[in-house]
Amino acid sequence: MVAGLSMPQKATPPKYFYDERGSALFEEICATPEYYVTRTETALLRSRAPQIAATIESGAVLVEFGSGASEKTRLILDAAPQVGAYVPIDISPDALQQAAARIARDYPSLRVLPVTVDFTRAVALPSPVGHAPRVGFFPGSTIGNFTPPEAVQLLRTVRSLLGPGGSLIIGVDMVKDSATLVTAYDDAAGVTARFNKNLLARINRELSGDFDLDAFDHRAIWNAPLQRIEMHLVSRIDQLVHVAGRGFAFKAGERLHTESSHKFTVESFGLLAGSAGWAIDQHWLSPEPHVAVFRLVAPD
Ligand code: AVI
Repeated sequence: MVAGLSMPQKATPPKYFYDERGSALFEEICATPEYYVTRTETALLRSRAPQIAATIESGAVLVEFGSGASEKTRLILDAAPQVGAYVPIDISPDALQQAAARIARDYPSLRVLPVTVDFTRAVALPSPVGHAPRVGFFPGSTIGNFTPPEAVQLLRTVRSLLGPGGSLIIGVDMVKDSATLVTAYDDAAGVTARFNKNLLARINRELSGDFDLDAFDHRAIWNAPLQRIEMHLVSRIDQLVHVAGRGFAFKAGERLHTESSHKFTVESFGLLAGSAGWAIDQHWLSPEPHVAVFRLVAPD
């Protein structure tokens, strides 16, 4: 965090958005009319669940990366009763245990084996998983929040975790007109602005910061060459902010880059996945605004 604030282009890692308040604000974002990603992907998973389920072998283990409340998982589990075990992986222990308990209650014949860890770190699957075929599930277009090199690294980690013959069902947001994209990240009710500024509140609380939230404006921009939406906090004035005992000068108009959300075409996602040793087996596209679900396979 401090390292990011010290760079010439100040930047902070997006994973710090998700404290309790940030996670609640993200839920609120998903309910705004402008943020199409979650609702469109959910509708796509619901309508394509039979086709997705048909690719899953009997007795397979479904491994979800960043499982949260495991809500989208139910769409797959309902359509794929042949899944033998479910391994939800999440960093937040309380939310994970609660979600795992609800899934175990609602799918009594499913073995539920939660793992509390940051899924970007290489993890081992719980030993009862054994040699059953492994199917990864990574919805939400979260892959877009990583830089391309980070995304390749993560997809490689996931590939080695799932092993030879593993497959990955992954949700990805697609490139579209810039107006739709920018509005999705700058909603009229200002929920995304509050989500963005909550990062400053978190820094103030956890790193003894003195950010004045009113001295920054939320900004969302479409970076066409890099095919990504960027969120920034723009300083309204020249100011000196303190974090963890160090001073950081902001000029009026200077930006703190808080998030990138990469958008893909089928071709660009195929290239990214290919760099990590995956190949696209199938993909399903929603009606506009386009989001996609890909089934990736790892050729031996
Ligand atoms: C979690 N992630 C996929 C969201 C996105 O669309 O990049 C986070 C988000 N940021 C602002 N709005 C939503």
